[in-house]
Amino acid sequence: MDDTPQRQRIVSGESQAQDQEEPASLRPHSLEEYNVGQERLIAGLRIAIRAARSRSEPLEHLLFDGPPGLGKTTLAYIIAREMGAELHRTSGPSLERAADLVGVLTNLGSGDVLFIDEIHRVPRPVEEYLYLAMEDFQLDFVVDRGPYAKTISLRLEPFTLIGATTRSGMLTAPLRERFGIFHHLDFYEEDQLRRIVLRSAGILEIPLEEEGAAELARRSRGTPRIVNRLLRRVRDYAQVIADGVITAPVARRALDEMGVDARGLDNLDRKYLQTMIEYYGGGPVGLNALAATLSEDQDTLQDVVEPFLLKIGFVIRTARGRMATQAAYDHLCVNKPAPSPPTGQENLPLELE
Ligand SMILES: Nc1ncnc2c1ncn2[C@@H]1O[C@H](COP(=O)(O)OP(=O)(O)O)[C@@H](O)[C@H]1O
Ligand SMILES: [Mg+2]
Repeated sequence: MDDTPQRQRIVSGESQAQDQEEPASLRPHSLEEYNVGQERLIAGLRIAIRAARSRSEPLEHLLFDGPPGLGKTTLAYIIAREMGAELHRTSGPSLERAADLVGVLTNLGSGDVLFIDEIHRVPRPVEEYLYLAMEDFQLDFVVDRGPYAKTISLRLEPFTLIGATTRSGMLTAPLRERFGIFHHLDFYEEDQLRRIVLRSAGILEIPLEEEGAAELARRSRGTPRIVNRLLRRVRDYAQVIADGVITAPVARRALDEMGVDARGLDNLDRKYLQTMIEYYGGGPVGLNALAATLSEDQDTLQDVVEPFLLKIGFVIRTARGRMATQAAYDHLCVNKPAPSPPTGQENLPLELE
């Protein structure tokens, strides 16, 4: 099968090398600019930030969960900025040893924000140091062994931890409980993405028609990062085949040629569904079997491919595995009825695995 690395997928929500060329100006820098989507969270944050500031206290620890590309990192930067705080950024996999975390924590100034991306990948022994640090701004560690062992306590400056994860189900209960604010970011609506891409086109001075924006939004898998990426890719295309203006027909033709279909699915999404339908009769099939047949990483399927397919109702999860729905059969023009799920087992929450 196709062994194109995942990061090459044009509709992957994950950040790609070319996104680093994305002008920083596209990223909203304040709550004011982040005015599309996540309305409930933003309203709550405004109040929490104002209250914390008036008490001159750091904000409660926050946990953001959701698929890649929906704005978790952006929010962390905005919050730090609105708090007038410095942001320190690290990630779960880079906190390999407790000493790495101690180094990061002791570097924090009073009121600073510590952003830990992929917090579900912090190793367990390291995570245990986080509990006391989050709760009492303190670090306890044991030096020496046996009869000479003693505990040394280190005071930390008060700080705010912002954790981001694509997999909150993998967090341990003690860690999850130490966050005061937990927010699940869901996919954006088409109309929200349309507004986001019109804003981006304005900033980048790309001629984009309303209908062209709607077409980009429709094919962006509910994800702001993807709509910005498609905009830049289709711009190149519009310059070469048209007069540079992104109209609906130009967007449609460009995206079709890139393998992004009318629902925003790309080759990997379609291969995932095809495999499920053709090899496994529509399921139920386990994630590991699917991953093996597709020669894909399970994490990629679970974090990047499945959330959107579940969201649009092309796939459901039962206790016995994933199943393709009639909508998926119809979308792929498979002229067969989809198998029916065991009753009462449709749509288990994502965390159950
Ligand atoms: N509400 C929003 N309005 C406009 N653009 C957004 C919004 N949320 C996210 N984006 C865009 O999407 C990109 C990806 O967001 P990011 O915070 O990196 O996602 P995550 O950390 O969840 O993977 C950002 O660079 C930004 O341009
Ligand atoms: Mg991020």
